[in-house]
Amino acid sequence: MRVVDLFSGCGGLSLGFQDAGLPVTAAYDYWEAAVKTYESNFSHPIHFFDLSKTSAACDHIAQWNPDIIIGGPPCQDFSHAGKRTEGKQANLTLSFAKIVCNLRPETFVMENVQRTKNSRNFGSARRLFKKAGYGLTEVVLDASFCGAPQKRKRFFCIGTLNAEDGFLEPLINCNLAGKAMTPREYLGDELGVANYYRHPRNYNRRAVFSIDEPAPTVRGVNRPVPKGYPGHPGDTAKLTRSLRPLTTLERARLQTFPKIFKWSGPKTELEQMIGNAVPVKLAEFVARTVLAYHSQPEASVLETASV
Ligand SMILES: C[S@@+](CC[C@H](N)C(=O)[O-])C[C@H]1O[C@@H](n2cnc3c(N)ncnc32)[C@H](O)[C@@H]1O
Repeated sequence: MRVVDLFSGCGGLSLGFQDAGLPVTAAYDYWEAAVKTYESNFSHPIHFFDLSKTSAACDHIAQWNPDIIIGGPPCQDFSHAGKRTEGKQANLTLSFAKIVCNLRPETFVMENVQRTKNSRNFGSARRLFKKAGYGLTEVVLDASFCGAPQKRKRFFCIGTLNAEDGFLEPLINCNLAGKAMTPREYLGDELGVANYYRHPRNYNRRAVFSIDEPAPTVRGVNRPVPKGYPGHPGDTAKLTRSLRPLTTLERARLQTFPKIFKWSGPKTELEQMIGNAVPVKLAEFVARTVLAYHSQPEASVLETASV
């Protein structure tokens, strides 16, 4: 199957699909730093391309004749705390839908923050998908139940032509882990700490986490422990001199990028692309489910019947 990744960033979604046995043929992004990182880690082409220009994008992407289009359009306008208006970035969800509906691959996978589900732009995208003949599975997945040691909840809309709505739910439910994964379970003692600092959005939230609980969402910024940190009753350890935030590379590991993944460039850009990424193991989980459905679509229906 030919897979094309749109809004690929540094390639979390791409790598998960590849690891599941669905190699990616081409990728697209419009941020030089992400394109460079992607290029250093994959052998297929990545195109620096503005996907808001949907007509030109369709012409370009058509050369790959994709069976599967995957992508995580930017989510800042949906996810930014306190900001409810949907701006230019959120429109890219609609661009993704326009490209998919024009090229009509057999299957598409779209990833975004949870809030997307009830957004106006996704409502318009959903109407386009339905009109183009896609059956949709819309699901929020917690990465810590999908092979990654991080409590990161993300919305997935997965469409397959002529399938029934909800077609993937039985397989997804069947494959979810029985318990959330922790950093110690995934990384052993690699982090070299039992507790670490993760700067909270405000001091009503805790900031110190143990490696024996799923990590909080890896975001696009990473701050040192501030001088005036007041502490929080939920913190798993007291503030000591040795308490530190995780490094950029350690955060990439929580995002389940392999040790051999090559990162270069300014730290702020790397933090941003790591925080943007779909955890590789979560992407692999979704890809395996899609692959299983395509190998035996009837089996997933039978499994539902017997559950
Ligand atoms: C949420 S990130 C994608 C993360 C990626 N799926 C991963 O797993 O690593 C969204 C990406 O959309 C890209 N982007 C933003 N505007 C774009 C545009 N107009 N055209 C193409 N890509 C764009 C950003 O550069 C960013 O890398």
